[in-house]
Amino acid sequence: MLTVAVLISGTGSNLRALLDAVADPEFPARIVVVGADREAEGFAHAEDYGIPTFMVPFARFATREEWGSELAEQLDVWQPDLVVLSGLMRLLPADLVDAWSPRIINTHPAYLPEFPGAHGVRDALSAGVVQTGASVIIVDNGVDSGPILAQERVPVLPGDDEHALHERIKPVERRLLIDVVRRVATGDLDLAAVSASAPL
Ligand code: GRF
Repeated sequence: MLTVAVLISGTGSNLRALLDAVADPEFPARIVVVGADREAEGFAHAEDYGIPTFMVPFARFATREEWGSELAEQLDVWQPDLVVLSGLMRLLPADLVDAWSPRIINTHPAYLPEFPGAHGVRDALSAGVVQTGASVIIVDNGVDSGPILAQERVPVLPGDDEHALHERIKPVERRLLIDVVRRVATGDLDLAAVSASAPL
């Protein structure tokens, strides 16, 4: 049974979808802990499922590195097989990424390498594109630049604002994320092999 830690910052709707999926006894993974860099609304979803949570408030640390080492200590307590970033709105320090990659994945609301960064949805709208997408990647030390594990196009419709477009993207992100976690859990997706074969 693959054990998963999920890190969030916000509402955790993608976390909720993963929690609902792993609640199926047939699903080959379980979420052992949910962590956040702030008092995230999404903790409520973990509490609904009786899953432990931890918070490492970014604001309490002088540097990203100090925050990251505390976060790493929390992850070491739980020793998950896989770390999932699902709406964590922080770049992780290199030490943590190096310690966990490729067993650390992220969802992004764009068709990477298009529109990386914290405002992928807004940037797609500003660019006036007719389609964007959703991606699941292995986290590396770049900004949303890691090897792509899954991605799918999502249309941009006339009249879309950032919220409407993001809400159309999220269900695709959730489906891709659940499928990636399932494939990692069953061994159909070998993160180390994907990472090793990724262009340097
Ligand atoms: C998701 O689109 C995620 O990819 C992005 O922020 C959003 C988080 O949404 N980083 P939620 O907190 O899961 O509702």
